[in-house]
Amino acid sequence: GAAELGPYRHYMQKEIFEQPVAIANTLDAVTSITPELFGDGAYRVFKDIDNVLILACGTSYYSGSTAKYWLESIAKIPTSVEIASEYRYRDSVPNPRTLVVTISQSGETADTLAALKHARSLGMLHTMTVCNVATSAMVRECALSFITRAGAEIGVASTKAFTTQLVGLFLLTLALAQTRGHLTEEQEAEHLKALRHLPVAVQAVLALEPQVIAWSEEFARKENALFLGRGLHYPIALEGALKLKEISYIHAEAYPAGELKHGPLALVTAQMPVVTVAPNDTLLEKLKSNMQEVRARGGELFVFADGDTRIESEPGLHVIRMPEHYGALSPILHVVPLQLLAYHTACARGTDVDKPRNLAKSVTVE
Ligand code: AGP
Repeated sequence: GAAELGPYRHYMQKEIFEQPVAIANTLDAVTSITPELFGDGAYRVFKDIDNVLILACGTSYYSGSTAKYWLESIAKIPTSVEIASEYRYRDSVPNPRTLVVTISQSGETADTLAALKHARSLGMLHTMTVCNVATSAMVRECALSFITRAGAEIGVASTKAFTTQLVGLFLLTLALAQTRGHLTEEQEAEHLKALRHLPVAVQAVLALEPQVIAWSEEFARKENALFLGRGLHYPIALEGALKLKEISYIHAEAYPAGELKHGPLALVTAQMPVVTVAPNDTLLEKLKSNMQEVRARGGELFVFADGDTRIESEPGLHVIRMPEHYGALSPILHVVPLQLLAYHTACARGTDVDKPRNLAKSVTVE
């Protein structure tokens, strides 16, 4: 009801703005990095595994896709990420030394539960979930768990569940890195400091809302949009596109920017807005040349650029300046303006933001 919404128009907007608190709550009990954050006996499991298999659907699949980059670069553990509805029905090669990690806001998604049971039936008994509902079937079914403290998420479009999943998955990365001898005490302290500062950093990004609203008026008149990202931020581009299509009904696709010339560049015209996630990471120069490819075809760029990228607005190139680059945790900041862009575009189009057509909050049937 209106009372719970407070100053917000929709649950989705409220939940976007609850992210600093949701992240702080998720980190509340974390005083140091230890496998026991994931349950009793986690250390023994972490010592036994030689790879990670992440299973999830939708937005949770994109947090898993982001975590793959962290797990391989920081914990140096081979990781695969699979869409639960695919994994459960395909022939795969089971490895009993796999840590199977399901990710789910609700903990009741039928395909993710079935994928978990499928993995177990193949002899993979090291199971863990990153889940937002402590009493859910998923938590009951998994040997280990990390509960995100996003609080109830009502809007069908997942927002605060996603960013808190990323926090949980980053902690998992650090705990696995530690067990495998890839995390010094100094590194642990630095990562913890960056995690603890996240609520303040996310708050600063939320302050960009007025600039995003200005863009959303233009987006509301489009029927297509392209999202580009590279590396760690490619899954963020995917998540931005999913948010936009889910609630504004604008057709949106995301590509890793390096793939542009292998096909999607053919779609780029002056009518095509191209949203670009541009953190100041090692791929920035590559990304800038991808942006040139778009400009050369008349495409209009809407860039979320870190403060230190030296990407400036010019005709056909709009820039919203993000705070300084946030290192490995940058995806948690960069997804926020994409959530806001989808939200305000949907509002401008007058769709039912919290209950988009044809969709259910949790998909408990196949
Ligand atoms: C996200 O905005 C979606 N509504 C949807 O993709 C969702 O993330 C997916 O159904 C998975 O749900 P779960 O996290 O509860 O398992």
